[in-house]
Amino acid sequence: MAALLNDHELTERIFAHAANRSTDVGAEIWREPVANYRDPARLEAELALMRRTPTPFCPSASLPEPGSYIAREAAGVPIVVARGEDGAVRAFQNVCRHRGMRLADGAGCAKALVCAYHGWTYGLDGALRFVPHGEAGFPDLDKSKHGLKQVHAFEHGGLVFVTQEGAAPGNYFADIPAIIGADQRVYSSGVRETPANWKIALEGFLEGYHIRTTHPESFLPYGFDNLNVVETFGRHARVVFPFKRIEKLRDVAPAQREVSGYVTLVYHIFPNVQVIRLSSHTVMLVLEPTGVGTNNQVAYLLTNRGCGDDALAAAKKDMAFVSQTGAEEDRAMVTAIQRGLSADANDAFTFGRFESAIVHLHKNLAAALEG
Ligand code: FES
Ligand SMILES: [Fe+2]
Repeated sequence: MAALLNDHELTERIFAHAANRSTDVGAEIWREPVANYRDPARLEAELALMRRTPTPFCPSASLPEPGSYIAREAAGVPIVVARGEDGAVRAFQNVCRHRGMRLADGAGCAKALVCAYHGWTYGLDGALRFVPHGEAGFPDLDKSKHGLKQVHAFEHGGLVFVTQEGAAPGNYFADIPAIIGADQRVYSSGVRETPANWKIALEGFLEGYHIRTTHPESFLPYGFDNLNVVETFGRHARVVFPFKRIEKLRDVAPAQREVSGYVTLVYHIFPNVQVIRLSSHTVMLVLEPTGVGTNNQVAYLLTNRGCGDDALAAAKKDMAFVSQTGAEEDRAMVTAIQRGLSADANDAFTFGRFESAIVHLHKNLAAALEG
């Protein structure tokens, strides 16, 4: 597997495409059955795959100190991740061992996780520490057998990966570069329900073939029509969308060229996560299926450089522009495709040579579900 292009190689590839009015193209055309977007059994299989795949859960930066925790559903299961007193991140099913209450809610920082129902209390290592009136009420309770159910968590490249079933094979992460830098800070997070199958939502980020028609006044004036660099690494991909201002880098010595600020980088981490690095902010977006025709888009917003006032102001301004313009245009496309899924116009959707990152997704998804 080839490594991703460095910044110098990337600029050379982009300049060549700009001169030739060309773009990266894939080798094959892919036909994805429409049934795969509609079938509840297929969704169940995809959710099971997400549970056994190391899947980015949140940025490492969203757990900045011992006691930081984040709770949400992942692949249909309530999960809490917490940074322990020892600095290590652990993940658990977010379910009390007394009568199954959800333990943690949202995000916060705590010394222990206390159940809101009857007060059973767990350490950040998942151990059951305290049961109110335990000796009288539960005289034979073996606390050591009533810790939280732990699942596998691993930090790599600025992301916390969770594997709910089994553990990630040791070499799984070798393919994945550092995507979020140590100087980036989380400044906001949120969830938005989207009325579309998770794969339709994901596909919208993975090609630049739609820029001219979908984004004529928002993104096209700053970017190019159908000019992308598409690279794959393992089951993952990176799609690069250059801005026109990248021309300025022609005057910079090749070894000194840095593309940050001159391109949008869309990393797709298999199966359902993207990290999108824009001019002045980065969005980690997890597409959590909530049904065949709905998904929750969990977003973590990060500055690109540090946590100073300037970095934060630039990130917020950048985010406001994108979310009020292009992102709404994409959302309109995605939700309209979903409404058309009930029609029988298509047995399959056809992904062409400009849409090779999507072909890579479907190929790997099909292979993983068969395997
Ligand atoms: S359900 Fe958690 S303490 Fe009772
Ligand atoms: Fe778009």
